[in-house]
Amino acid sequence: MSKASARPQTRYVCQSCGESFLRWEGQCRACSAWNSLVETRVRSEPRPSRGGVGSGGGGSVSATAATRLGDVGEPERPRLAIGIGELDRVLGGGLVPGSLVLLGGEPGIGKSTLLLQAAAGIAALVGPERVLYATGEESAAQVRLRAERLGLLAGDGGGIGILTESSIDRIAEVASQQTPRPALLVVDSVQTATVDDLDGPAGSVGQVRAAALRLMELAKPAGIAVVLVGHVTKDGSIAGPKTLEHLVDAVLTLEGERYAAIRLLRATKNRFGSTEEVGVFEMGEAGMAEVADPARAFLAEHDGPAPGSVVAPTLEGSRPLLVEVQGLVAPGPGGTPRRTASGVDTNRVALLVAVLGRRAGVGLASHDIYVNLAGGLTVDEPGLDLPLAIALASSLRDRPVTPATVAIGEVGLLGELRPVIGLERRLREAARLGFVRAIVPRPGRGPMLPAVAGLEIVAVGSLREAIEAALSGGAGDARRMATTSARC
Ligand code: TYD
Ligand code: MG
Repeated sequence: MSKASARPQTRYVCQSCGESFLRWEGQCRACSAWNSLVETRVRSEPRPSRGGVGSGGGGSVSATAATRLGDVGEPERPRLAIGIGELDRVLGGGLVPGSLVLLGGEPGIGKSTLLLQAAAGIAALVGPERVLYATGEESAAQVRLRAERLGLLAGDGGGIGILTESSIDRIAEVASQQTPRPALLVVDSVQTATVDDLDGPAGSVGQVRAAALRLMELAKPAGIAVVLVGHVTKDGSIAGPKTLEHLVDAVLTLEGERYAAIRLLRATKNRFGSTEEVGVFEMGEAGMAEVADPARAFLAEHDGPAPGSVVAPTLEGSRPLLVEVQGLVAPGPGGTPRRTASGVDTNRVALLVAVLGRRAGVGLASHDIYVNLAGGLTVDEPGLDLPLAIALASSLRDRPVTPATVAIGEVGLLGELRPVIGLERRLREAARLGFVRAIVPRPGRGPMLPAVAGLEIVAVGSLREAIEAALSGGAGDARRMATTSARC
């Protein structure tokens, strides 16, 4: 044992990607971020070398010899169904024992609320003495108050173990010494968590990463499902983003507008299930409630047709969601026009503005442009191009889209339209919710257009055609439309 190994060591940890260096440099060599290296004292190696084999998986598999795949036993511990359908759905059927799940979202979006409800769900399943809720964010009294508000105190929720502690070492100690072993450990949040060996402040990349590693070392062998809360920073990434996302088994994110009720839960990574499924909740008086009809949750309510508004039948995994796309264009005061987009990619909007101008005769180059998706939803599928373009054209011409119409399709640089996947499923859902007309790309050599009862499908070949079709009706023209369609 040399003296050197006991002496505190210093590393320079990049706050953007988590890479560590021996010397300070102005730019991180791993991710090229400037001025992101922060001196972090390391008293000992944060990751102890592990000779043994974790017993978290199933069967006895030696670390040094390969085992026939067929001889590997099934997992000893079944998934824990939380009993909140939308949450179980996103997890892929419940929490996997021994897994580490990161739940991200903006402050105030409902992470702690959802997890307290989930903790009560697991408590009902395996007994409250096997659920630990560690919080470095709130006092025990505050958690109690919330549990009371959620109506969880009376049931099994009252027996959940609350730990107001931010030291991960202390939390791990309690969890591993407790009998019976916890089935679920919630750690709220990773930003308040600290690891004893590190000197960096709570929330720094070094601490965040070490905390997650420590929790993983606790979770795997003991078969404890650990859910870690991570606040999303302003730029939309979870602190220590890349390092954490690689470490954990699943990353769930909760999105929505803080002052609106609808929340969308998405799995952006899931080692034990699909990343396609989404869960829809509504934040109400009694916490996060499952939404009875998620497909209509993102439709804004207004009296009549409004210029700049189009409904798009989007597909999130296997679930069709209808979302209202809103666009507003206004003549700019000169100078660089404003381009503000929420819920969609600003670059995509810029591209659509260019295509609209060059290929569809909708000149927006000098206009200020605002784009928004109702309910705070974020959609990144290319099929949203067409509804976005129609919304902008509708706002510019101040003409509403024909009532009860949906539109979906990808727009190419030449103003051509490309089909989307799952069209039939989207259109069936639109018809179910009372829409009567759908503007979709004309299929090329691919599959035929689906026939959906009660829905008139208008197949168009170009953006220009789509805009004409969408704006051909409108409030004043509704009657004329009806007679025209009756005639043909
Ligand atoms: P919270 O779960 O504390 O958010 P996070 O942990 O993501 O920071 O949620 C806080 C918000 O939720 C707060 O604005 C109050 C609101 N809320 C409700 O609307 N209903 C409820 O039943 C509860 C418990 C909270
Ligand atoms: Mg919280």
